[in-house]
Order: sequence, then structure tokens, then C-alpha cells
Amino acid sequence: RRPFIVAIDGPAGAGKSTAARRLAGRLGFAMVDTGAIYRAVALAATRAGVAFDDDARLGDLLPGLAIRFEPAPGGGQCVLLDGEDVSAEIRTAPISLGASAVSARPVVRAALLGLQQRLATAAGHRGAVLEGRDIGTVVFPDADVKFFLTATPEVRARRRHDELVAKGQPSTLAQVLADQQKRDRDDSERAVAPLRPADDALLVDTSGLPLDGVVEALADEVRARL
Ligand code: C5P
Repeated sequence: RRPFIVAIDGPAGAGKSTAARRLAGRLGFAMVDTGAIYRAVALAATRAGVAFDDDARLGDLLPGLAIRFEPAPGGGQCVLLDGEDVSAEIRTAPISLGASAVSARPVVRAALLGLQQRLATAAGHRGAVLEGRDIGTVVFPDADVKFFLTATPEVRARRRHDELVAKGQPSTLAQVLADQQKRDRDDSERAVAPLRPADDALLVDTSGLPLDGVVEALADEVRARL
């Protein structure tokens, strides 16, 4: 039997990454940040001078990319693109928008599907927490538990802005909100794998909740089904 799969989907800034990381840590599960994979593709395209909507050249680029995760020295994970740690570089604003753009291309989604499934089911883990936009609808439609995390646009933008400021990156709340609105709209309206809750997903509004409370609630739900 395959490992126990927890799907966490939702829009940017809903608290998915932190919740997924802590949940995986508590349960002893692997964690797969699928957004980081799309970000790595956007970075690779940028470096190769490939436009985000150039399906033919994206199709040529993808098979040669090696995208991997490794435990980070200080906890969490780092993302390796062809052996280079690109964890910081994939979090910039242009790459965020680029990730959203490449992720709308069916050629990209198809090429990354198997990679996401393999990372989750790789030997040695009892289970995996996958975090993204279409985990419960496309990547693992038969996931054992599906969560859809949301929060109001203002709360989500505030969180992202605070994160950027904490990392010393230039940021204004208004710009973060504008970028976020564009990404949400593009992610929800695209033809392939649009952002939407799976029919059997549990909706969790994290707006007023401290993250510890969110993780606690998710962990209880998973344990009840293990
Ligand atoms: O989650 P994160 O903000 O890192 O994701 C970056 C972008 O990658 C999202 O805006 C979305 O367009 C895309 N994405 C996706 N499907 C996923 C994960 C991310 O389309 N499973």
C-alpha cells in the first residue's frame, strides 16, 4: 500500500507552507512543497531565456531539469535545481509571478505530475504531506485526507508582506496585495487544474486562527484517520 497522503491546497498566503511543514514534522511524514517545484521551473526558464508561455521551449527544457529537495541545515527544506540551492532565489516577486505563469501551461503540469507523485511515495516514509493548488483534485485525487486552507485576502497579503520584510526583502503591502490578486485570479481561472477545493476537502479558514491552532486541528483530523 502507498504511504498515507495528506493534501493541503489553497491560495497564496493561507498558511499552507508553514502548516504543512509543522504537520509533517509532527507526524513524521515527508513534506512536498509543490509550489517550490513550479518556482524552480520559472527560475530555470528565466535563466535559459525561455518565455513563460513558450510551450515548445518549455517542453524542451523540462526533461533536462533536476529538481530535488534536501533537508536544510537549520530545519525545513532547501530546493535544489541541477544541484544548486535556489531556495532564496525562487521566493522573489518576479519568480512568484513566473511560477503562476508557467503553471498555467499544460505541458509544464504534465511534466511535473509524476515528479510530485514520486516525491510523495518515495520509500522510507509512512506518509507525506503535499502542499499546493491541485493536490486533492489532480495529483492525488485519492488522498487520505484533503484540506483546503483559506484566509481573507488582507490577512494573506499581510502575512506574505511580513515574511518578506523579515527576510530583508523590499516589500510594500499594496504591491503584495496587487501581485496576490493577480496570482489568485490567474490560478483560479486557468483552464488546467484551476485552484478550487476538491469536493471532499475540509475547508479551514485560518484568518483569525494562530498557526499552532491550525496545525493542531489538522493533526487531530489526520490522526483520526490513520
Ligand atoms: O505555493 P506557491 O506560492 O509557492 O506556488 C507558486 C505558484 O505555483 C502558484 O501561484 C501557482 O500558480 C503554482 N502552483 C500550481 N500548482 C501547485 C502548486 C503551485 O499551479 N500544486
